[in-house]
Amino acid sequence: MRAAVYDSKGAARDVLRIVDRPVPEPGPNEVRVRIAVSGLNPTDIKARKLPPGQTATRIPLTTPHRDGAGIIDKVGPGVAADRIGERVWASLLDRSMTFGTAADFALAPAHLAWRLPDGTSFAEGACIPIPALTAYCALFRDEPIKGKTVLVHGGAGAVGFYAVQLARWGGASKVIATVSREEQAAKARSAGAGAVIDYKSPDVLRLIEDAAGGPNAVHHIVEVNFGANVALDAALIAKNGTLAAYGSDAEANPRIPFSAFMQKDVLIRAAILYETPRDLIARAATDITSLLEKKVLQHQIAAQLSLDEIVDAHEKQESGQTIGKILVDIAKLD
Ligand SMILES: NC(=O)c1ccc[n+]([C@@H]2O[C@H](COP(=O)([O-])OP(=O)(O)OC[C@H]3O[C@@H](n4cnc5c(N)ncnc54)[C@H](OP(=O)(O)O)[C@@H]3O)[C@@H](O)[C@H]2O)c1
Repeated sequence: MRAAVYDSKGAARDVLRIVDRPVPEPGPNEVRVRIAVSGLNPTDIKARKLPPGQTATRIPLTTPHRDGAGIIDKVGPGVAADRIGERVWASLLDRSMTFGTAADFALAPAHLAWRLPDGTSFAEGACIPIPALTAYCALFRDEPIKGKTVLVHGGAGAVGFYAVQLARWGGASKVIATVSREEQAAKARSAGAGAVIDYKSPDVLRLIEDAAGGPNAVHHIVEVNFGANVALDAALIAKNGTLAAYGSDAEANPRIPFSAFMQKDVLIRAAILYETPRDLIARAATDITSLLEKKVLQHQIAAQLSLDEIVDAHEKQESGQTIGKILVDIAKLD
């Protein structure tokens, strides 16, 4: 099969190449997916990049990308044979990934390959897994959001865009999104944000408070960049509020204004999909699939490239300039 691979970490153009690789055999409780479209996420970039200060060493041959959509063509022991032929959206949420989705075939745990409704394209299916599951888990894990005011930081990001939509679907009374440019503001509004605030504005606290209806009025925060926003979040969150942070790229280990949070009895969850309990992921996937069936979710695709353009795809993802998902077309299976 054709597959993108790397066997040492580094810059996309230094380490990524296309090779002919044996088609992998599914192991126990795995499915093999004939991939139609592969989806990139920041985690794929972080996995491929050489961490600062480290020197490149040989690692096991890795085909990148955890998310994808396609058709199950073979199942391993323990998986019902009637899944063969099923259209699926899938995510390879195990940390040691060898056969990712940037190839003709990928291996996924059977419980992480979900039915893709007929009315949803493979490209849409490849947008969904990590972003929509992360958004769902950041909204529906702790206190109910129904009737509450929810702030989604980065409301035009891959996760944020689904978080705004899912917060609306989940019955939040107000959904406020932050963005940094007009193009992103339009996206966040189209996702259903009732108010969109420029997070770079010097007045960001007041602007969010005005949108929320006063100080200490944001009940739940979906946080993309905890280190950058922690002081702001501490200032605006409501008493008994909840905050689910799924990213902190600006500062991995920020100083936390503990007292400000404690005085309001705030719950802070530092969330990671890889360690999210299986039953919550299953609930998220069931609800997301049902929303796909009803065609109520919007998806945003920034670019669709070919497998031969894998380096370009990674560089676009890393640029931070695109809005929406970067996808890699593998095969036309429709
Ligand atoms: N914990 C998990 O399980 C999990 C799951 C998925 C993703 N992640 C992580 O979450 C982050 C985002 O992933 P993604 O796929 O959504 O990326 P993305 O599509 O690049 O979106 C990130 C968004 O966050 C915005 N942003 C950056 N700094 C911000 C700030 N201080 N305040 C408000 N918005 C800000 C960006 O806007 P600008 O253009 O203004 O920068 C962009 O719109 C990445 O670090 C990723 O690794 C973690």
